[in-house]
Amino acid sequence: MKTFVKPGVGSGAMTLDASWYVSPDVFAREQERIFGREWLCVGREEQIPNAGDFFTVERGGENLIVTRDAAGRVHAFYNVCRHRGSRMCEAASGHFQGSIQCPYHAWTYALDGELKVARNMAEVTGFDRAQYPLKEASVALWEGFVFINLGEATPFEQTYAPLIGRFSRWSIDRLRAARSVTYELACNWKLVFLNYSECYHCPLVHPQLDKLSPSDSGRNDLAEGPFLGGYSELRDRGMALTTTGRTSRPALDGVDGVELDRVYYYTIFPSMLLSLHPDYVMVHYVKPLAADRTEVVCAFLFDPRTIAQPDFDPSDAVDFWDLTNRQDWHVNQLTQLGLRSRAYSPGPYSNAEGLLSAFDRYYLQIMEA
Ligand code: FES
Ligand SMILES: [Fe+2]
Repeated sequence: MKTFVKPGVGSGAMTLDASWYVSPDVFAREQERIFGREWLCVGREEQIPNAGDFFTVERGGENLIVTRDAAGRVHAFYNVCRHRGSRMCEAASGHFQGSIQCPYHAWTYALDGELKVARNMAEVTGFDRAQYPLKEASVALWEGFVFINLGEATPFEQTYAPLIGRFSRWSIDRLRAARSVTYELACNWKLVFLNYSECYHCPLVHPQLDKLSPSDSGRNDLAEGPFLGGYSELRDRGMALTTTGRTSRPALDGVDGVELDRVYYYTIFPSMLLSLHPDYVMVHYVKPLAADRTEVVCAFLFDPRTIAQPDFDPSDAVDFWDLTNRQDWHVNQLTQLGLRSRAYSPGPYSNAEGLLSAFDRYYLQIMEA
C-alpha cells in the first residue's frame, strides 16, 4: 500500500472495465484460470506442527484437508472420499489420530492418503485398495507458508524464483503468528491488491500512517509480473507502524542498517500480501468469495523469543493495522459501489499507481490467454 513509482511509469494507463470486478462470469473464469491453476498460499506450517494435525481450506471451489503425515510431509487432500464421494472432514482444524476416516461407511485412509481399511470390500471381485488413495493437490513450502496448487502446476521454484531467498534477512520461516484478524469485504479481491499497491490514497485515508511513513517515500524493486512491490521509509529511525509510533520489540535477527528505516510491501499473485517490518511480518491471506465479496485474514508474525517475553503484547501493531485495514476496506467497498454504476468508465492511473497497471497487465495476460 505504500510503494511509489517514479514519474512517468504509469502514464497513459487506465483502470479496467467494470465487468472485471462485478461480473459473475468473470469470477467463474478466475476460479478456473487463476485459482484453479496458480500456487495459492493457504496458511502456515506452524498450524500443523505434528503428524495428524490438520486444517481445511476452500480454494478454487474445492475443499481440501491440509495435514502432515507420519514422515513429516505436508499434503493437501481433496476432502472427498474415494468410496461414494462424501466430504469426510467438517472441522476447520484439529488432529487426526493416525488416520482419516470417512463418517459415512468408515473407509479409512493413512495420513499419506493411502486407503488402509475399506469394510467388506475384500468380497468385491477385483477390488484393489491401492487404486483408491485420496486425491491430492500439489504442495509447496516457502518461508513457513503452505502453498497449494489445484492444477497442472508449474514447479513452485520456477514461478517463485524472484522471491526465493529474497527475504532471508527476516527469517520468516522461524517466525510465529501471535494474532490474526478475519475480515469479510463487500468488494472484488483485485481491489484489495490494487489498493495495497499504492499510497496515493494514504494522506487522506490513513492520516495516522502518513505521520509515520511519508506516502511518497521509497521505491519499487519488483515492478512487473506476478510479484510487485518495494519499500517505504519510516520518517525517523526508531519509528514503527504501531499505535504509539514506536516499538519496544527488538528488530528481527538479520534486519539492520537501512532495513531498520523501511517497511517492505509486496503483492504475491493471487493470494497474499506480504509486509516486512523491522520487528514483525504481516501477511494478508486474500480469498475471493464472489465477484463482490472477499475474505481477508491478516496475520502478525513475530520472533518466538519475543512472543515468549512475559510482557509481550502485539496490540500496538495489531490495532494500528486493524484501523488501517478498515480504512482500506472502506474505500475498496466504495469503489465496488461505483463500479456497479452506469456512470463508471475506465479512469487514468496517476504516476503513483504504476504497480496497479502492472497488476492489471499480468492479470489480463492470464485471463485473456
Ligand atoms: S462415502 Fe466414504 S466410506 Fe462411503
Ligand atoms: Fe491503504
